[in-house]
Amino acid sequence: MTDFSDRVEQVSISGIREVFEAAGEDAINLGLGQPDFPTPEHARQAAVDAIEAGKADAYTSNMGTLELREAISAKHERDNDVSVSPDEIVATAGGSEALHLALEAHVSAGEEVLFPDPGFVSYDALTRLAGGEPKPIALREDLTLDPAAVEDAITDDTAAFVVNSPANPTGAVQSEDDMREFARIADEHDVLCVSDEVYEHIVFEGEHRSPMEFAESDNVVVVNACSKTYSMTGWRLGWVAASERRIERMLRVHQYVQACASAPAQFAAEAALSGPQDPVDEMVAAFEERRDVLLDGFADMGIDCPTPAGAFYAMPKVPEGWVDEVIDRGVVVVPGEAFGEHGEGYARISYATDLETLKEAIEVMREATEAVR
Ligand SMILES: Cc1ncc(COP(=O)(O)O)c(C=O)c1O
Repeated sequence: MTDFSDRVEQVSISGIREVFEAAGEDAINLGLGQPDFPTPEHARQAAVDAIEAGKADAYTSNMGTLELREAISAKHERDNDVSVSPDEIVATAGGSEALHLALEAHVSAGEEVLFPDPGFVSYDALTRLAGGEPKPIALREDLTLDPAAVEDAITDDTAAFVVNSPANPTGAVQSEDDMREFARIADEHDVLCVSDEVYEHIVFEGEHRSPMEFAESDNVVVVNACSKTYSMTGWRLGWVAASERRIERMLRVHQYVQACASAPAQFAAEAALSGPQDPVDEMVAAFEERRDVLLDGFADMGIDCPTPAGAFYAMPKVPEGWVDEVIDRGVVVVPGEAFGEHGEGYARISYATDLETLKEAIEVMREATEAVR
């Protein structure tokens, strides 16, 4: 009988799904990793127009339409002050595929990939699927990734390290100094830095900087997507940005696993990236207000929570039994260990939900806290 591959047997369905399934139907869900806002109207309309004009029926170029890649290139110039030409971009099926391409193209069997722990669940799984060895790196007390810890963990077998700022699940934002350090480490050790920047616009304190701005070699691959910035998780549109030689390798993978990103989504993304950016500002302002309400709630409960400077997650340190108690009382939160061993003792709270519902959930968390103390 045909057995399953060793690679696929090393990964399992994300623990986050199990939490959702355990919760009742009318539970308040603070477990979701997507904004609760509509996709901007002009982005939706661009897809509708393209479909009606018959422009979205066929494969596009494997790399994505030139117009979309020009819009992405202009975005990098505008937002990141880096020059990335349309030939240095591949449009992908979301940030997820972009991460897959980056690792698949750069990690050989048995090579190590370093990533934050707690960190986004895909880093571990995609490393294993690429045949690599996951090397989780514990975070600092403030839940940022310490460049020195990354540098210490590099061996002759290290192929890549992942930086994710603002971060899922912590909401932490790396400082400019850290980003400069990550660039230096990528240059000096000649290892790839995969910079996952899907939350780049959702920053409340500090500023998002990309290691790509500071690297002197081409050892940084940027992964980004429209998913979080424009509330387009369902459209499945992301991209990788890197030097042409790296793009050529990632395109080899993309060509065979995906052919091209969805054509209607490419038209929507082009409009989102090049049209008015006010919907992003409005969403970020709403997230910041909710974050402050949530942090006040935790302070009242006596729960310690590092201040998340970005994304739409908070990661408080919680007493034993807290996550189960909160879920039993009808609020879905994700146990920190779903994001790695060092997530134990924490919970991830997504505040991508309206303020009224969030306040209701805070009340439930308050009662649960009293119950487990
Ligand atoms: C840190 C991080 N990177 C990448 C992704 C993938 O996003 P996409 O929906 O664009 O595939 C996510 C989604 O939750 C994420 O949190």
